[in-house]
Amino acid sequence: MRMYDIIKKKRDGGELSTEEIAFFIQGVTDGSIPDYQISALCMAIYFKGMSVRETCDLTFAVRDSGDKVDFSSIRGIRVDKHSTGGVGDKTSLVVAPIVASLGVKVAKMSGRGLGHTGGTVDKLEAIEGFRTTLSDADFIRQVNDIGLAIVGQSRQFAPADKKLYALRDVTATVDSMPLIAASIMGKKLAADDDCIVLDVKTGSGSFMKTVDESRALARLMVDIGKNAGKKMKALITNMDRPLGHAIGNSLEVIEAVETLCGRGPEDLTEVCLTLAAHMLSLAGMGTPDEAMALAKRAISDGSALAKLKECVAAQGGDVRLIEDTKNFKKAKYSRDVRSTQSGYIAHADTEAYGLASLALGAGRNTAEDDIDFSAGILLKKKTGDYVEAGETLATLYTDNEALFEGAEARLRAATRMQSGRPEEEPLVYDIVE
Ligand code: URA
Repeated sequence: MRMYDIIKKKRDGGELSTEEIAFFIQGVTDGSIPDYQISALCMAIYFKGMSVRETCDLTFAVRDSGDKVDFSSIRGIRVDKHSTGGVGDKTSLVVAPIVASLGVKVAKMSGRGLGHTGGTVDKLEAIEGFRTTLSDADFIRQVNDIGLAIVGQSRQFAPADKKLYALRDVTATVDSMPLIAASIMGKKLAADDDCIVLDVKTGSGSFMKTVDESRALARLMVDIGKNAGKKMKALITNMDRPLGHAIGNSLEVIEAVETLCGRGPEDLTEVCLTLAAHMLSLAGMGTPDEAMALAKRAISDGSALAKLKECVAAQGGDVRLIEDTKNFKKAKYSRDVRSTQSGYIAHADTEAYGLASLALGAGRNTAEDDIDFSAGILLKKKTGDYVEAGETLATLYTDNEALFEGAEARLRAATRMQSGRPEEEPLVYDIVE
């Protein structure tokens, strides 16, 4: 088989066979196919697309390119959720303890921040002492004991994706539906869960900018998961504005704890309860409405918060931070960004908000960068809110005063005002079964 023929076939709109896709991913993994041929095929896929069968083959080959985990010794149903990435998205910190407190097992392997989007592992590391690496035996023991463990991906999961993603990133081929689906699901299927709920974000803070594109991606990923024998559902949720008010690691943990105490922002609470309800329902805990009632009760009776504390303690984190979030280290400096005009916030470019938080030190520009866990943004006003001239739009936090200028400029440029109230947008657009 020759890579040249595979590229030519896809370039001319042909359908690749299972063997051709396996040959390609094998060569990506073992380094025998040069970067220029990998990139050329990615570009051909970008323009010509892939059938569902081809995308499934690509996903399974990516999944099989590295380690897999065996969770068969975990007792009970294992359920996970996966977000396609957003800004202020701390849902895992809320949803995982809710679901685990109701007896469904959550063995979660999360990622770090990517570009403008945050990552659960970085947020958890804002809790002093929290270990995001556990041995397989400790991880499984903890899930069996308390129903919940959250770690980073320390294994060689889907190494083909790592290589492909790095090349897509520099050849303008990230936003191809089959390539995104194979990348996300290839990694997700390497973990051993029974049920998966996907949170497919849509809007300016996500990879998919329109609801129709997001729905198509969700449909494709649900079909791939079902083909692999998983129980699947996908929610299409709004990422045209940050979720909640907090962007940045410790600020987001604090907001997640507030949400578990029943005092969270309305939008974050609604998205978390909806995700939890569908996870519980897939795991056999009744209809989504019945499961929603259980999820609400887990917040109001304090059992979800107690589960988060149990997980933090089990992984070596300082529980006093969760008991009283005032104990989190504060940023050295804060600055209020005030509106120069009166009016409604018509639109906020969510990706730019994520980049503003990154510019304050809350994320990494290179893999080696250290994170300032206390850095970030607290939004005082969001899309649809009325603002008087001089009122605070947001407060910025950082340990490095010199970073305010750039972050404030980004935030201002990303916020569009108008005189009339903008139309309300739904938080959950659709559910793909
Ligand atoms: N997230 C991933 O893991 N892969 C993509 O291609 C896009 C988002």
